[in-house]
Amino acid sequence: MTTQPYIVFWKGTFIVSAAAAVYTLYKLRTSIKKSNSNPKVNPPKIINNITDLIGNTPIVKVESLSSYTGCEVFCKMELQNPGGSAKDRVALKVIQDAIDRKAIIPHKERKDLVFEGTSGSTGISIALICNALGLQSYITLPDDTSLEKLKLLESFGALIKKVKPASIVDPDQYVNSCIESCNKINDDKNDDRRGIFVDQFENELNWKVHFETTGPEIFEQMDGKIDCFISGVGTGGTIGGVARYLKAEKKLRNIDVVVADPQGSGFFNRIRFGVMYDQLEKEGSRRRHQVDTLVEGVGLNRITQNFHENEKYVNLAYRIKDIEALKMARWLSNNDGLFVGSSSCINACSVVRYVEEFGLQNSGKRIVFVACDSGSRHLSKFWKEALALKEEELMSTLDEL
Ligand SMILES: Cc1ncc(COP(=O)(O)O)c(C=O)c1O
Repeated sequence: MTTQPYIVFWKGTFIVSAAAAVYTLYKLRTSIKKSNSNPKVNPPKIINNITDLIGNTPIVKVESLSSYTGCEVFCKMELQNPGGSAKDRVALKVIQDAIDRKAIIPHKERKDLVFEGTSGSTGISIALICNALGLQSYITLPDDTSLEKLKLLESFGALIKKVKPASIVDPDQYVNSCIESCNKINDDKNDDRRGIFVDQFENELNWKVHFETTGPEIFEQMDGKIDCFISGVGTGGTIGGVARYLKAEKKLRNIDVVVADPQGSGFFNRIRFGVMYDQLEKEGSRRRHQVDTLVEGVGLNRITQNFHENEKYVNLAYRIKDIEALKMARWLSNNDGLFVGSSSCINACSVVRYVEEFGLQNSGKRIVFVACDSGSRHLSKFWKEALALKEEELMSTLDEL
């Protein structure tokens, strides 16, 4: 008996459809299985160079401060940059600009140099970026710079010159000494290496990179809804660039831009009363450091170019005592799992002061402060003191700040 062709046709169609249905079911099952097995997996794409990780830092809601104030309090996690602070942005911008201008050339047999006088995070950012791009970092710093920072710089292979702490008018002061070392190489006809001096305090690429990146990131992450931005002033780059972006570019004219100032620094009086001065600076009372505080990275007693250019966008300031910063360090670590450095703590203290001054409790205002670096950068000084606080000195509520 011969099989009818239409039966063959329908049999074939049935087999193909059944196979397709089984395959689809199989794919569906494995994809459901996959997504159920780890719904949180959403890894970023592969990048080609560590410098591609700079910027686009997250913002985290700080629950303990939000519930205490009845506002929405967020921190911009600049400590998530690969070099551990916002200084990565500045170092990359200045170095990239010098490469574009051909002032320095990466990956030569004899490495071109990037000079900076810094005892802070900027040196670490420069050292990291130089290694990633094929350049050599040269950092001058005071000889009492904390051991962890020194070790980090050494680990990155930075050339390090330690000098005795001195006033900025002294030619042997670490910034002046750095400029001299850079000029020496550029003036030497027998040395074919070139050098640039980053000059983070006066170089306006500093505030510009925050205007181009940090400010827009914050605006986008907050959906444009932001009432207050709080930062310390080290060079003034972060606060200047972000404030200018939010107020001038995005026309958020009503937002408050607040300087969190450590004791001994002059910005509080500068913003509140127009005078750059702190009582701790009076003749005879000043100790060895530029600003007498445990807080590192922020606080100054001169107006930098980066601050000067953007001062008109800053309208408030709070002066935070070291003891308050120490208590806040323990509070944030214990209540939010935020293990941050000293300048982040004075920013967080300023959130509380701001809400108190304007009676903003339960107003739902959206406040962003900067988490500049991790507590691990401050273990031997600030966090040593924070850990030495006695049980009764710790805050059980933020009313005690
Ligand atoms: C520890 C620390 N605090 C504060 C700041 C803000 O400083 P600046 O005013 O130089 O932008 C920075 C910059 O990254 C920092 O590293």
